[in-house]
Amino acid sequence: MTSAQRMAAISPFIVMEILTRARQLEGAGRDIIHMEIGEPDFPTPPHILKAAAKALREVDIKYTPAGGLPELRRAIAGFYEHQHGIRIDPQRIFVTPGASGALLLVLGMLVDPGNSVALADPGYPCYPNLVRLYGGVPVRLAVDAGSAFNLTASLLEARWDAAMAGIILASPANPTGSIMQPDVMQSLVDCVESRRGFVVSDEIYHGLEYGTPTQTALSCSDTVFVINSFSKYFGMTGWRLGWAVVPMSAVDVAERLAQNMFIAAPTPSQWAALAAFDPENLVELERRRQQFAERRDVLCEGLQRLGFLLPAKPEGAFYVYADCRHVTPDSRAFALALLEEAGVAVTPGLDFGINHPERYLRFCYTASSQRIREGLDRLARFMRARP
Ligand SMILES: Cc1ncc(COP(=O)(O)O)c(C=O)c1O
Repeated sequence: MTSAQRMAAISPFIVMEILTRARQLEGAGRDIIHMEIGEPDFPTPPHILKAAAKALREVDIKYTPAGGLPELRRAIAGFYEHQHGIRIDPQRIFVTPGASGALLLVLGMLVDPGNSVALADPGYPCYPNLVRLYGGVPVRLAVDAGSAFNLTASLLEARWDAAMAGIILASPANPTGSIMQPDVMQSLVDCVESRRGFVVSDEIYHGLEYGTPTQTALSCSDTVFVINSFSKYFGMTGWRLGWAVVPMSAVDVAERLAQNMFIAAPTPSQWAALAAFDPENLVELERRRQQFAERRDVLCEGLQRLGFLLPAKPEGAFYVYADCRHVTPDSRAFALALLEEAGVAVTPGLDFGINHPERYLRFCYTASSQRIREGLDRLARFMRARP
């Protein structure tokens, strides 16, 4: 079979290679500490499971409207009002199969062949792959600790040209855990919109913030496209449910494309997610957030003790993007050896771009503090045993 030519530009996730090898080792009886995959270790919250079980008993599981269950769209709109004091017409909310579905939908609406789209490097690997899928050209803007790994208006102005159609920003970000300050976000959005470009803001890690909360890009402008999900903060990865908020002027296009792409997001998951915003569930999510904050501190302190550099303290999500230049010249070889020899799975920087990836390793604090401590002990022994 011959694939479409554009498939040559779609790269696999290296983290999946690591995960597959970790599972093989586990199959052979090894104990592996998982700090590679961006999936919370917590189970689906019990309140959501109860709502899902009730829906399966009582609801006829058929397609929902393409934009999602009207009740869920209203609940999401209510969440914006409650969390951010922003009123959004529920018609602007499209419930999708994960944030992945929302990205596919929104980029499909926005990217024409030949368009350039600016992204932070390091960044989430899907962004450049999806831009390429639609014939666009990802323009990676190297960011570092100087801007807390965030895109800035001055970086963007320096690279903006006639082919540039828009940007994808993320806060809190994967893999750096960085959070964009409100003034930085506002100036970025102004910079792009004054050039008639689009802004896609990936807010999937909203809620997982350990200092100042992140603002939504919707508070900068109501013509941005926002991506979010039930996967991370709400702990529902496998339910495959997310959403996009689109400007009012884009509702018709989003509706048409959503119908054609998905028909609708999974119905049982939508009923389950309706319970996600209940106060009882939010209490459980806050408890989990506090545990993540504690784990972050354990991991950051431990890594610094071992000689890793953390020039910008991660403030959100569940990632630490550690600079390992004083530990190894090759983060990929280091990650593979660490897995084989010490049973600790982490992701090399190579997954996140071309901005000195050999200098970085991403550690996820999606394991318990106790397991993270054990992982740090193994890492220390592994480093001592290396020539
Ligand atoms: C930054 C970012 N965006 C989007 C996604 C996709 O998430 P999902 O499709 O599970 O909602 C992920 C998953 O790890 C992510 O890290």
